[in-house]
Amino acid sequence: MFDTVVQSRKPEYTPAVAAAAAPLYDKVRRVVNALDWATYAPYILEINRLKKEKGAVILAHNYMTPEIFHCVADFFGDSLQLAQQAGKTDAKIIVQAGVHFMAETSKILSPKKTVLIPDLRAGCSLAASITAADVRLLREKYPDVPIVTYVNTSAEVKAESDICCTSSNALAIVESFAGDTVLMIPDQYLARNIARQTKKKILTWQGSCEVHERFTPEDIKKFRAAWPGAVVLAHPECPPEVVAEADFAGSTKAMSDYVRDRQPKKVVMVTECSMSDNVSVNNPNVEFVRPCNLCPHMKRITLQNILSCLQTMTHEVTVDPVIAARARLAVEKMLAVNIQSRGV
Ligand code: 13P
Ligand code: SF4
Repeated sequence: MFDTVVQSRKPEYTPAVAAAAAPLYDKVRRVVNALDWATYAPYILEINRLKKEKGAVILAHNYMTPEIFHCVADFFGDSLQLAQQAGKTDAKIIVQAGVHFMAETSKILSPKKTVLIPDLRAGCSLAASITAADVRLLREKYPDVPIVTYVNTSAEVKAESDICCTSSNALAIVESFAGDTVLMIPDQYLARNIARQTKKKILTWQGSCEVHERFTPEDIKKFRAAWPGAVVLAHPECPPEVVAEADFAGSTKAMSDYVRDRQPKKVVMVTECSMSDNVSVNNPNVEFVRPCNLCPHMKRITLQNILSCLQTMTHEVTVDPVIAARARLAVEKMLAVNIQSRGV
């Protein structure tokens, strides 16, 4: 009896489901095997039906697995693109297929909307590395130095900051200040990578991304020896010694654009594992070497919990309105700088 109840709740892979989902499978068949597809397809169809019924959109980060990224997401991209999209969408409900700070950023920019995250435990080692109290102490210590805060932080930390940045616009944001010193928190590696591109003095914090800090310069040398001629792309959350060995460093969007525009024969993406799968779907002539590290937080988001999130309208992400108003200033200042810098 119990088994029957459980089975009836799980969407089934029937011939009708297989036929309806076939065009989506054509898109991802090179990165999703047929056995896994039989599990995914019924969830994908049910998610796509339910999000229409409820007026929801799914915002997915580039590190989502391909069945989420290519089959249920309405908008996808790097942190900056997701923040821009959250501010623009007319949908009443946003489901954030990403980590908690991304959902908070959506809520900060769209306070009247319902923002849901499929798993509240989807955190980030950078966001966990600093508190609002830490930022207040920094402010006391460096009263005249502007504080540029990476979006990979809590709303409380953003609220204490002068402006936010992402890996896409960090240099433009730092350069937007007139003074010669800037505090970039909390990613010590992003800060050091930006310091190599600007004349300004960059002070930082001791945070790091647990995924990107694991890559070493020796790894890159080994990749080059094993795959001669491969182009190496790295995320700027990697240590600067790793970035120095790469051919190009940029946000997840910048890496994806690099492959789309330059069509290298072989590429090594020094970043989270799903990136190569997602980018390879639209670049069939590029060979991807996949030396990657998994982000355990991003990987908490699955088709199963996206469906359950839409069915039960949990977990709702809320931000104290006073904190949200202060954090919004920092995020909106960032978005304004970005718009100006794109026009140059
Ligand atoms: P991007 O803004 O480049 O997508 O980076 C977000 C992130 O969490 C990378 O680890
Ligand atoms: Fe945070 Fe790193 Fe995961 Fe990005 S990859 S969410 S920075 S832990």
